[in-house]
Amino acid sequence: MDKDTFRAAMRQVAGAVTVVTTRGLNGEPRGVTATAVCSLTVEPPSVVACINRETWVGQIAPESGNFCVNVLTKAQQPVAETFAGRTTLSGAERFQVGDWQDAETGAPVLDGAIASFDCDLEQAVDFATHVILIGRVRKTLSENGTAEPLVYVDGGFTTTRPAA
Ligand SMILES: Cc1cc2nc3c(=O)[nH]c(=O)nc-3n(C[C@H](O)[C@H](O)[C@H](O)COP(=O)(O)O)c2cc1C
Repeated sequence: MDKDTFRAAMRQVAGAVTVVTTRGLNGEPRGVTATAVCSLTVEPPSVVACINRETWVGQIAPESGNFCVNVLTKAQQPVAETFAGRTTLSGAERFQVGDWQDAETGAPVLDGAIASFDCDLEQAVDFATHVILIGRVRKTLSENGTAEPLVYVDGGFTTTRPAA
């Protein structure tokens, strides 16, 4: 399989934009913009997040044992850009953008997100460049479910609207 062909096909797959956060053992928060996130099981309530090991979250979450998936609204696009490394802010400074609180696990939770899933890390599975974080959801927070979702497709941010 040629990787450019794979990339071109994946570009057309629309994804909900999230910021996956964690609180390190040293107390420092970190976050990363991620679309490779989805629901795993309802019983127990669980999610997966596929995170590059070169990112802060990919390094820290397997040790810290906590992470929180924050699903963004269209209005929160600046948060997505910040946590994708598209500004000069790095590490904990990125939390200056958006309104963040501490969830039960200690991971940062974003006010006004469509939904946030505060997780205890159940397993971290390495695959090639990435680590697959499997989280058992302790609590769902900050529901703003009627807001327009932030969606990423074909290299750009957009939103979806309910079909008429
Ligand atoms: C829309 C979008 C989706 C992304 N999805 C993922 C993802 O699912 N997993 C991942 O590891 N990186 C993803 N990235 C890349 C990270 O956000 C990016 O590498 C970030 O700069 C990592 O920050 P750090 O290396 O400073 O910790 C995505 C970026 C964008 C813009």
